[in-house]
Amino acid sequence: MPTWDPDIYERYKGYRDRPALDLLLQIPADLDPRTIWDLGCGTGEQAALLARRHPGAKVHGLDSSPQMLAKAAARPEPVTWVQADIAAFDPPQAPDLIFTNAALQWLPNHAALFPRLAAALAPGGVFACQMPTAFETRHHQVLRETAAEGPWAHRTAAARLIQPTPSLDDYYGWLSSSCAMVDIWSTTYLHVLEGQDPVVDWMMGTALRPYLDALPDSDERAAFLAAFTANIGTVFPPREEGVTLFPFPRLFMVARR
Ligand SMILES: C[S@@+](CC[C@H](N)C(=O)[O-])C[C@H]1O[C@@H](n2cnc3c(N)ncnc32)[C@H](O)[C@@H]1O
Repeated sequence: MPTWDPDIYERYKGYRDRPALDLLLQIPADLDPRTIWDLGCGTGEQAALLARRHPGAKVHGLDSSPQMLAKAAARPEPVTWVQADIAAFDPPQAPDLIFTNAALQWLPNHAALFPRLAAALAPGGVFACQMPTAFETRHHQVLRETAAEGPWAHRTAAARLIQPTPSLDDYYGWLSSSCAMVDIWSTTYLHVLEGQDPVVDWMMGTALRPYLDALPDSDERAAFLAAFTANIGTVFPPREEGVTLFPFPRLFMVARR
């Protein structure tokens, strides 16, 4: 499990918030949930928002990272923060809403996980999920290539947590095994990034974490980062005006039991 740095993660807050809000908008308006779980809640932004939106509901934010949960716990909203692994999620009471934004891509075996989450819902309950479809992106390809080509290759090999994205047909089948309504769509956001090496900066908050964690020697970590910065700079060069365009594809699902 990578260590998460909440401050770096929140640097691109506007771009990271947008898909979560786009997902929230698609939760059926007639849902009046009593029990809500935000899986991989991070610093708790959306769990807090859900608590404000549904004041009568018992809202839980679950995450494996104590650093992220420490930030979440400072929020004033009445959310129960739970440190646990999503893979072992087994709620005592069937949730009316399972919300999960930018987290499930870190978990293996979606063929088992997605049907299990859908089946955990209360009747009429909603599963709402957003994940970057990261594996196929150019920036993840460059990351894998850089990790595989240097003297660090044997240490970074185990860091490859992100899996190829299963097909939309697969996700439909896994969710429709329990859910009567399944809505799946994808969007590519074009991020306009500023500053020096902005793609590296963006990835510092997420994708680079497991690789850097796998390199305990600071010289080797610096060499890996320098190689990655050079490689990614050739794929995402700055435009004449100074900004760097960074396409970011994301997959959304809303299913109702
Ligand atoms: C990219 S952040 C998203 C945080 C939040 N949902 C948001 O949208 O701002 C991914 C979060 O998933 C958590 N996470 C990753 N794998 C997990 C697992 N197996 N169990 C619990 N949390 C996990 C990480 O600790 C991290 O806080």
